[in-house]
Amino acid sequence: MTDHKQFRAIRGTRDILPPDSSLWNWFERTARGVFESFNFREIRTPIFELTDLFARAVGADTDIVGKEMFTFEDRGAGILDVTKFSLNLDSLAQLEEAMKRGELANSERNRTVVSELRMNTIELSEVTEKITSAIREGKIELIQQYLPQSNRLSEQCNTLRQLIQFGDVLSLRPEATASVVRAHIEHGMHNLPGNQKLYYVGPMFRRERPQKGRYRQFYQIGAEVLGPSDAPGIDAEVIEMLLVLFNRVGLTRTTLYVNSIGCKECRPKYVELLREELRKVKDRLGADSQRRIETNPLRVLDSKLPEEQEIIATLPRISDHLCDACREHFAKLKDELNLRGIAYQENWRLVRGLDYYTRTTFEVTSEGLGSQNAVCGGGRYDGLVELLGGPPTKGIGFAIGTDRAILSIQEGGHLPKLPGLDVFVAWMGAKCYTTAVGIARKLRDAGLAVELPAEEMKFKKSLGLADKLGARSALIIGEDEVASGTFTLKRLADSEQKKLTESELLIHLESERKGETLGRYA
Ligand code: HAM
Repeated sequence: MTDHKQFRAIRGTRDILPPDSSLWNWFERTARGVFESFNFREIRTPIFELTDLFARAVGADTDIVGKEMFTFEDRGAGILDVTKFSLNLDSLAQLEEAMKRGELANSERNRTVVSELRMNTIELSEVTEKITSAIREGKIELIQQYLPQSNRLSEQCNTLRQLIQFGDVLSLRPEATASVVRAHIEHGMHNLPGNQKLYYVGPMFRRERPQKGRYRQFYQIGAEVLGPSDAPGIDAEVIEMLLVLFNRVGLTRTTLYVNSIGCKECRPKYVELLREELRKVKDRLGADSQRRIETNPLRVLDSKLPEEQEIIATLPRISDHLCDACREHFAKLKDELNLRGIAYQENWRLVRGLDYYTRTTFEVTSEGLGSQNAVCGGGRYDGLVELLGGPPTKGIGFAIGTDRAILSIQEGGHLPKLPGLDVFVAWMGAKCYTTAVGIARKLRDAGLAVELPAEEMKFKKSLGLADKLGARSALIIGEDEVASGTFTLKRLADSEQKKLTESELLIHLESERKGETLGRYA
């Protein structure tokens, strides 16, 4: 029997359908235009990477890496294919060699499993030998004595064998900064002249609890600057670029928050002080914050729990504990923002949820989004390139959550007028079809959006469909038109009709599109 199961998009993922997809394309196109005007260029990186990359860059103890990544084990290749692997001392030696050559994940887990397997296999072969000689000598009681041991060992070997990671452990990217830094190192981009100014557009994946503005597959448009300098002017320009975009797309009910979270000189001392203060109030904090006192006390400052707010307000603030260099960097950043006329609010609690940040952190929130109101987050990450094995390099960037930005634009109600369908070709009669196909090609070549029905329709039905599709005009081609070599163009908004020759038609439609106001979105 056929299974009539209805497939649906996986929880936390969604389809973006027309006309929303036009709005998305417009937003992404506008971002590309703005970013390229600041001399940023696009980088495209894979959507999955070694899990270790994210663990190292974003931090193994962060929520993103600890709880939210979509992780899977790749299948091994060639001799290490799990399906072809049989267990004996030779194959274990092969595994160890493969681990050394990097063909098999040289992970803690694999090393432990292989060494336990080796011990078990040796023991198993000894027991098997004893059983074989007992059989030879017909000593039934000895066979009975060794058999359970042999069974237990084979079972253990089988269990251990399942634990071998034959392939790499990979994760869908939860963010793209780690990938951009990996690519920068891999391609020796530090040898290129000037700062590398890169942007990316694409999906990210986090296993979060879905709600409005929070998805498991969501989209980011991000930008990163990697290079030798950490001048605060770079930080300010990156923020300026972001706000130019927001302004251009009408995302104006926003607030920019900035902070400095210090560097590896001053932050550890502050974190220790914070930890001591937090220990004193531990009993009054929730379970998450209590745990974070030991694992990552900075994240306590991120807490949204109402009952913790009063306590957090009394905690020491990082701005009072920055080293001279960080204090100066932050002061210059604020000067640079003022120079550009950028309004901001300082927020000493803005610590961000990724471990790679140093000094500048920033976030933009937008009204009307409820609890998931951060439309963009970013900051400086000097030291990340070195942490991932590259040469000393400074870095700063941000990522905009496209889903939230679009939601906010939609809620704000200031939707752009996007060009819609320019012409619906209403033809009737087999003789007219050739003319219809020819003119549709010419109009499309001229950059107009044209709908040409493939099957004949009565004019009334054609015009009705043209209206439903939101076409600006209908081009009527009947036997009269073909005979006279003209076209009848009907403007659907007011039913005004014009008889035009082919060249007049092209000029007319192009000029209408240039002064386009009637294209429909929604
Ligand atoms: P992030 O703050 O984790 O930073 O994410 C940036 C933005 O992505 C957020 O402000 C939010 O708008 C959006 N976002 C995050 N998670 C979700 C979700 N589950 N659903 C919908 N939108 C979401 C980063 O990702 C850093 N890599 C930013 C960066 C680049 N820092 C330096 N360079």
